[in-house]
Amino acid sequence: MGDALFLGLDVGTSGVKAILVARSGEVAASATTPLTLSTPQPGWAEQDPAAWWDATVVAIHAVRRARPDASIEAIGISGQMHSSVFLDKAGDVIRPALLWCDGRTTVECAEITERVGGEARLRDLACNPALEGFTLPKVLWLRTHEPQAYARLATVILPKDYIRYRLTGVLATDPSDASATLMYDTAHLRWSDEILAAVGVSRSIVPDVGGSSEVLGRVTSDAAAVTGLASGTPVVGGGADNACGAAGVGVIAPGEAVSSWGTSGTVLAPMLEPRVDPALRAHTFCHVVPDTWYMMGVVLSAGGAFAWYRDQLARELAGMRDADALLDAEASSVPAGAGGVTFLPYLQGERTPLRDAEARGAFLGLSLAHTRAHMTRAVLEGVTFALRDSLTILQDLGMSPTQLLLTGGGAKSPFVRRLQAEVFGLPVSTVNREEGPAYGAALLAAVGAGAFADVASAVHATLIRSPSQPSSAAAHAMYEGPYRRYRASVQAARPDQWSAI
Ligand code: XUL
Repeated sequence: MGDALFLGLDVGTSGVKAILVARSGEVAASATTPLTLSTPQPGWAEQDPAAWWDATVVAIHAVRRARPDASIEAIGISGQMHSSVFLDKAGDVIRPALLWCDGRTTVECAEITERVGGEARLRDLACNPALEGFTLPKVLWLRTHEPQAYARLATVILPKDYIRYRLTGVLATDPSDASATLMYDTAHLRWSDEILAAVGVSRSIVPDVGGSSEVLGRVTSDAAAVTGLASGTPVVGGGADNACGAAGVGVIAPGEAVSSWGTSGTVLAPMLEPRVDPALRAHTFCHVVPDTWYMMGVVLSAGGAFAWYRDQLARELAGMRDADALLDAEASSVPAGAGGVTFLPYLQGERTPLRDAEARGAFLGLSLAHTRAHMTRAVLEGVTFALRDSLTILQDLGMSPTQLLLTGGGAKSPFVRRLQAEVFGLPVSTVNREEGPAYGAALLAAVGAGAFADVASAVHATLIRSPSQPSSAAAHAMYEGPYRRYRASVQAARPDQWSAI
C-alpha cells in the first residue's frame, strides 16, 4: 500500500491544477493543464465547463502518473468564484459559463437592486451589492437574452461544484461559493428566499449547501473509469478559490490578511462576524472555516493584465519558460515610479474600488524617452497600486494586519514581493507551499478524511511561514507620488464616472 495522499484540485481561469499532498503537508505531485478564455465581445468572458472537466481529467492523470503508488484518501476542490454553470434537468451544460470577470450584466444588476428594494436592502440580505461578475445577474441575463436556454435551466452551480458533480453525481455547493452568488443570506448562512422571490427565480435552481470540509459525495464508478481514481473516494465541499487560497497560506483568523495574484488580484482579511463595507467597494463572503467570514477587495486584472502585456507587447518572449523573470529584470532596471509612466489595469472593468464594468486599461505619461522597461515596471506597479486601493479600504474599516501573506504569481517573483512590501508599507511573508487554492482544497480534504480535527490544525501541521520581508519607510515614501498619480489617472480614464470614484 502506497502513501496516503489528499488530492487538491483548483479550477482556475488560466488552468486546472491538481496536487497530491501528504499528511505532513509535503506536495508529492503537481500538474496544471492550461485553459483558454473566450471573449466573444469586449468585457465578456466565457469558458466551457466541459473544458474544465477535460483539463481536470488530464491533470489528475498527470499527478497519478507521478505517484502511481499513491492511495488517494480524499479530494478537495477549489475554483473560480461566481462563474455560472447552467445545467438542465438531465445535468447537461446548457451553454458556456459566464465568468467572474464578465461585465455584460449591468442592466440585470440594476434590475436586481430595484426588485429587492434598493441597495441597502440587498446589503442587509446578501452583505453585498449587485455586481456584474456575481452569479445571480448572469441568471437574469440568461432569462432576458436566451429565453430558450433559460427554459431548460434546472440548476446553477459554481465551477468547482461542476467538477464535483462530474466526479460524484452529487449537485451541491458550500458556503464560500454560495455567499458569492448574490442569492445567499451571507450573515445567516441560508439561501435568501427573499432575494430569489423578488427577482422571480425559483429556489429549486440552487443546490443544497454542505460544509467545506464535509464529505458531500463519492467518486462514481463512471468517473473512476475516466480518471483512474478509486471508486468511492470521498469528495469534500471545498471552496471558493480566494477562500481556499487564504487557507492554503494559513490566513483563517482575524488580524491576518493575504494578497493574491492570480488572473485577478485580491486582498482578503478574515473576520468572526459578517461586517460589510458601508460603501460596498469590498465584498463580504463566507470563509472555508466554520463561523468565519472575510472582507475582500478584488482587482479584476492582476496576473491577467501582466499576461496580456507579456503576450501582446513582449512577443519575442512567447513560449519562454523564464519570460516573467526576464520582464521582472527589465522592470527592475528602471527606478520606482517607472519614469512617470502610469498603467491602469482595468482591462476587464474593475470591482474594487470603482465598481465599474466599463472601466478600461490605459498607459499614461509616455514620452519618447521611455522604453519598454518603463512600461513593464508601470504594469507591475499599476497592479500593485490597484491592490493597495483594496488594502486601504480594509485598513480604513479597522482591519489592521501587521503583515501580508503573499500567494500566487506575486509571491513567486522576488521583484514583485519587494514591490508589494514597499507599495503597501507592510512586511510581507510567504509559506513553504506555493500551490495556492489547490493547497487549501487539499487541506479541506484532509480534514474531511479525519487526518486533522479542523482547518486550523491542518494549517499548523503543514505550513511554515518565511521570515517576513520588511518594508522600508523610505522605499514606501518613494511610491507615494506614483500612487497619487495613479489615483488621479483613474479619474482621468473615466471622466463620466468621477463621482463613483
Ligand atoms: C473574486 C473573483 C475572482 C475569482 C477568480 O470575487 O471574482 O478573484 O474568484 O477565480
